[in-house]
Amino acid sequence: MLEDLYGRVVTNLRIAVTQRCNLRCIYCHREGEKDSGKEIDAERIAEIAKVFHELGVKKLKITGGEPLLRRDICEVISSLPEFEEVSMTTNGTLLSNRAMDLKESGLDRVNVSLDTLNAEKYRYITEKGELKAVLEGIESAVEAKLTPLKLNMVLMKGINEDEVFEMLEFANSFNKNETNVILQLIELIPNSKTARYYLNPEIFEEKFEKMAKAIKIRDMHRRKQFLTSLGVVEIVKPLDNSDFCRHCNRIRVTSDGKIKLCLMSEKTLDLSGLHGEELKRAIFEAVKLRKPFFT
Ligand code: 5AD
Ligand code: SF4
Repeated sequence: MLEDLYGRVVTNLRIAVTQRCNLRCIYCHREGEKDSGKEIDAERIAEIAKVFHELGVKKLKITGGEPLLRRDICEVISSLPEFEEVSMTTNGTLLSNRAMDLKESGLDRVNVSLDTLNAEKYRYITEKGELKAVLEGIESAVEAKLTPLKLNMVLMKGINEDEVFEMLEFANSFNKNETNVILQLIELIPNSKTARYYLNPEIFEEKFEKMAKAIKIRDMHRRKQFLTSLGVVEIVKPLDNSDFCRHCNRIRVTSDGKIKLCLMSEKTLDLSGLHGEELKRAIFEAVKLRKPFFT
């Protein structure tokens, strides 16, 4: 088992498969990665994933950049070992043509970044994105049963705070007999450019608490999920160190094949040239270096 010195067991792996993206979101943290221009190939991704799988990791998330910019993305997915769940975070712009193929390759579900339902705002946030493509992508993904699909909405003051309930209703419009789409309201991790958009999601948390028929607390980061009559919504508060970090069970692999211990830390460990037992030992030791960000 992969357990760090703080008793946190690593059960979730995120692999960035590219740093490239066709959008330029104003807040993008690029998964904390610096672009080295190198991308590990499908075979190496599978090799690394297999070791984590053997060490007890249950869930894998494919991230980027935008994963669908990789032409071999279906090959990447079909080469993976049998995780309990394989999901992908995508901006959705290229999803509509690929959804079925992705499902057939073994992808279970997707998270789609969608901060607004207003085309003009969408263009402002993403610099060059077309909202229509994303909406089509979401529809195709639901049809292909890449569900429960989560809509990632980064909360931004003066930009989309007025759209939270509309977004919840939009998500719920896909929920006929089952929960296909869940809204994920995400606290903005601000930088100097986006500090003015920061808004604490607490005000929404209080509203959801009042509306909720039931509240689930997920193991992962102690995230709260609210079941309301308008739909299902989950709040993600990455800046809440005590809960978020204390209950973090994920680890990252960068698109150039390094381990990244924490989104908020610059520290990486290069795995290149390591195979078999050596690779396994390096991963095991890397996990021992994990530290909650608040320490
Ligand atoms: N703050 C919060 N979430 C972010 N994401 C990217 N940058 C930030 C940030 N600064 C998340 C969004 C997006 C996904 C790709 O990463 O949820 O949908
Ligand atoms: Fe960053 Fe995702 Fe936006 Fe691309 S789509 S710029 S990776 S947040």
